[in-house]
Amino acid sequence: MFNKKVVTDFDVDGKRVLVRVDFNVPIKEGKVGDDTRIQAALPTINYLLEHHAAVILCSHLGRPKTAEDIQFSLRPVADYLSGLVDAPVSFAEDCVGPKAEAAANALKPGQILVLENTRFHKEEKKNDPEFAKQMASLADLYVNDAFGSAHRAHASTEGVTHYLPAAAGFLLEKEIKYLGAAVAEPTRPFVAIMGGAKISDKIGVIDNLLVKADAVLIGGGMANTFFKAQGYPVADSLVEEEALDTARTLLDKAGDKLRLPVDVVIADAFDNEANVKVMGVGPIPEGWRILDIGPETVENYGKVISKAGTVVWNGPMGVFEMPNFAKGTFGIAKAVAASDAVSIIGGGDSVAAINQSGLADQVDHISTGGGASLEMLEGKELPGLAALQDK
Ligand code: 3PG
Repeated sequence: MFNKKVVTDFDVDGKRVLVRVDFNVPIKEGKVGDDTRIQAALPTINYLLEHHAAVILCSHLGRPKTAEDIQFSLRPVADYLSGLVDAPVSFAEDCVGPKAEAAANALKPGQILVLENTRFHKEEKKNDPEFAKQMASLADLYVNDAFGSAHRAHASTEGVTHYLPAAAGFLLEKEIKYLGAAVAEPTRPFVAIMGGAKISDKIGVIDNLLVKADAVLIGGGMANTFFKAQGYPVADSLVEEEALDTARTLLDKAGDKLRLPVDVVIADAFDNEANVKVMGVGPIPEGWRILDIGPETVENYGKVISKAGTVVWNGPMGVFEMPNFAKGTFGIAKAVAASDAVSIIGGGDSVAAINQSGLADQVDHISTGGGASLEMLEGKELPGLAALQDK
């Protein structure tokens, strides 16, 4: 199934290895917030250190416009990483050019160098060959472990593979094994749970899952757009007007595979302290808005999930950041954790929800990719993966 070279296929002893990681992590007041992506890259980093490689890490962080956007510097991530590994970690203020070259040349086996944000150069997103070549010239080998960025054909994910032997890291391999198997050869019944605010972000995924999955359970803000497409007034609920036609098309072709909530939690303001009611799906009273799926829906979805062979979940069921509208999301988290199915969760919000619920260790795979995991579920080829050498 996984037919790409992996880091263990290389002799890395004494070599400089350029590793593309996804260190696009939240930074608050100069400090790393959630470190999931950094932790997830450690197996590859530690393997390389143990096998006497000099490890050069590169990544993007955020969406900076220029190198002056210093709040997007990777320096705090390098500092944070130094507390997680048993090796010296240095930092280069650029990812190409004299500073990067001097730091890479000085690097010894068993040491780590973190390069500055690749997106400080506009050539990164343009996948500029000359820029990719300069980055590649820092190393002897290239390993891509940045699953979260594998859907981007950028210089550090795709371009460099034209200039160095290129293999996958352990994280990339694991992500592709789980997500690829879910789409290509799921243990059935295959149940997909889709939430989040917008249908438009997930049309391709829902389209593909309506073919591949046995049931697609809908929740979150996107359910409102389906309700409106079915003709229910949704009052002040969030609706994506421009996606109404898409919602109608999806409903027409979905048959009974697409399940919508049967009840909802409504509130008279977007506020945890607002007045709250549970009601069956139907016209929403004026001045009210849908903020979560209701208890009957949680129960119905839970039954479907309990019989599943494979479950994929992306996107929360309601505004779970507010305790009064979190029961739907946490109810689904419980059902996923309790099921014997191969369970896979992707997308920042649903991952945050499973972590908050304390049930993360009962899930088989928590993806580090947002957009990348959606593109996998959509059945698309990831350029960062496709570019690696075949086994
Ligand atoms: C992500 O957070 O999904 C990845 O790091 C990709 O970031 P991007 O959407 O800015 O390319």
